[in-house]
Amino acid sequence: MEKIIELQDICKSFYLGDEELKILKNISLTVCKGEFVAIVGASGSGKSTLMNISGALDRPTSGRYILAGQDISQLQDKQLSKIRNQKIGFVFQTFNLIARTNAIKNVALPMLYAGIPGSKANERAKQLLAQVGMADRMYHNPNELSGGQKQRVAIARSMANDPDIILADEPTGALDSTTGRMIMDLFHKLHREQGKTIILITHSPRLAAECQRIITLKDGETVKEERGGRICC
Ligand SMILES: Nc1ncnc2c1ncn2[C@@H]1O[C@H](COP(=O)(O)OP(=O)(O)O)[C@@H](O)[C@H]1O
Ligand SMILES: [Mg+2]
Repeated sequence: MEKIIELQDICKSFYLGDEELKILKNISLTVCKGEFVAIVGASGSGKSTLMNISGALDRPTSGRYILAGQDISQLQDKQLSKIRNQKIGFVFQTFNLIARTNAIKNVALPMLYAGIPGSKANERAKQLLAQVGMADRMYHNPNELSGGQKQRVAIARSMANDPDIILADEPTGALDSTTGRMIMDLFHKLHREQGKTIILITHSPRLAAECQRIITLKDGETVKEERGGRICC
């Protein structure tokens, strides 16, 4: 299978004054196109840091990151933001939608950054919102939507430029279990019907078990990999 994410011996340190905090320690991880992978681990184990590097939001301190065949470890911010815009969709626990801006505009924004004309971007935004079951809430602002609805908008936004990869950092963490279930079903749909490569960080062992691979992080190291695929619905 075609490799899409190749993290090779990735280390990440943060510095507090003179003190080096080693947050990721020699992580190597390959994800193939079309895989659905869960990342689990205690709070503080480095999951979001790994996600930020995988999503080109941050750079490793050392190691190589080959994304879709291109070494992006040392690229500059401007190049990284272009790669993010084209290749990666992000979904966060707290939705990260733009306030006082309706759902259509939230979803259209990554397309506008990519240079797509406004009318075309709006048209596609409406289609994407319809796909996630938000056709009747398209003109609502985030503060007029429930948590589950906000997350649907965020998922539609993550699909704006039809990225190969979706990175979701605890996307159900702020939702009740029924709403979380619906959001998880949407990820399964994108995986199954559109062949998206999905990496999902979750605290839920049940949701993790539904993914094809489950990778456990502990203190910045990958300590376990299991096979999942136990889809119960
Ligand atoms: N920008 C930063 N500066 C300093 N320490 C950080 C920074 N980001 C994360 N950390 C630390 O890295 C560790 C892992 O954080 P994180 O990746 O957010 O873990 P998780 O998502 O698994 O809860 C934590 O101890 C956190 O305090
Ligand atoms: Mg986190």
